[in-house]
Amino acid sequence: PAAVNIKIRGSVASRGKRVKVSGWVHRLRHQSKLIFITLRDGTGYLQCILADDLTKTYDALTLTVESTITIYGVISPVPEGSHAPDGHELHADYFKVVGKAPGGDETITNIVAKDADPQTKYDNRHLVIRGEQASAVLKVRAGVLRAFRKTYEDLGMLEVTPPCMVQTQVEGGSTLFEFNYYGEKAYLTQSSQLYLETCLPSLGDVFCIQESFRAEKSLTRRHLSEYTHIEAELGFISFDDLLSNLEETICRTIDYALADPLISELIKELNPKFKAPARPFLRMTYADAIEWLKKHDIPNEEGKPHEFGDDIAEAAERKMTDEINLPIFLTKFPVEIKAFYMKKDPEDPRVTESVDCLMPGVGEIVGGSMRMDGMEELLAGYAREGISPDPYYWFTDQRKYGTTPHGGYGLGLERFLAWMCDRYTVRDCSLYPRWTGRCTP
Ligand code: 4AD
Ligand code: MG
Repeated sequence: PAAVNIKIRGSVASRGKRVKVSGWVHRLRHQSKLIFITLRDGTGYLQCILADDLTKTYDALTLTVESTITIYGVISPVPEGSHAPDGHELHADYFKVVGKAPGGDETITNIVAKDADPQTKYDNRHLVIRGEQASAVLKVRAGVLRAFRKTYEDLGMLEVTPPCMVQTQVEGGSTLFEFNYYGEKAYLTQSSQLYLETCLPSLGDVFCIQESFRAEKSLTRRHLSEYTHIEAELGFISFDDLLSNLEETICRTIDYALADPLISELIKELNPKFKAPARPFLRMTYADAIEWLKKHDIPNEEGKPHEFGDDIAEAAERKMTDEINLPIFLTKFPVEIKAFYMKKDPEDPRVTESVDCLMPGVGEIVGGSMRMDGMEELLAGYAREGISPDPYYWFTDQRKYGTTPHGGYGLGLERFLAWMCDRYTVRDCSLYPRWTGRCTP
């Protein structure tokens, strides 16, 4: 009978029929009179069996891992207790090699091997992503992006795509990537926040999923030079509204991701202990965090006890989050250690209406705040940071033409995934990660 062309995922529906399936030889095993191939086509894995005369052909005898191949045959269930993906296997009656891979000792099996040194792995990231774990993370990434978009649709928020080439900074001049824009100075965007703020009067609440760029000189496991930034901005809200909106967004997105059978299965494989966090998230002020760090003898960056006004560095933040072992909304950071645009707390002008969301194992995954909505305070904010207001005229104008209390946040997708998929570093949550010294492949 003629064969129907299929993809591996969903092949259960084709059991009993003669099919044609194409992919890469993921694993290969020769047994006395049989050849077992685990075929991979990106959608899944399928056990295929060559028997009898098929095993004696030149192509079968010289077959190598990662070669591309088209196989014809009938899919049938395997007996209880025997291990094959989806509980079935393809009994081949014909096959064709499409592109042969070299094989031998230098095969990518070694590169993908868990114990290969990191440098080799990242040089060969284009091969590493063929591996089961790396590709699982990338599939979860796609599922999580889908889940965020569903959540924002539920919340009635519109997606926009602000520019990546800009002439303003958002999160401090020290991490700006500068480039020559037709003879003018320009930067790669650090955050689309300022542009999102300008959309409120025309589009209502908005979000974007866009690359952000940071020239982070330090090598840490959670800093990239380019990362996917999920940002949202909401109008006519209070600080409490911002916190509950953020909590709702995170929880709803996780629920959507787990409701997808494939994504939920992959998360289970990558991070067997993962559970959707309980609501409400623990809320803790910066001042209380400083007290907590003092009480637990966790020193600041200079090795001294923490004091009000100190930055909570990555190591201290992670220790605290791991010890508490719950998502935390850390709120009300001092004015001096936060960005120029953040609104002051009306009850305590030393601090801002700001929030970081911290997750066990990673620390900060979200930074957000209420924004200054008055002209005077914003001009003072520029002055405090030593920023010239000129290139910001369009941002400043929002305070002139119908201002409103508003706020928003930015979430680092790779950090969110590192938490969800239990990866040691955000580098393994990006398709082709960039960090200090690495811009290939
Ligand atoms: O805390 P950040 O700097 O806040 C902002 O950019 C705000 N303007 C966002 C907003 O309110 N619209 O960055 C937000 C998040 C961080 O919490 C972190 O998850 C991620 O972006 N992030 C990075 N992720 C990977 N590598 C880096 N170098 C990152 N820098 C920030
Ligand atoms: Mg931050």
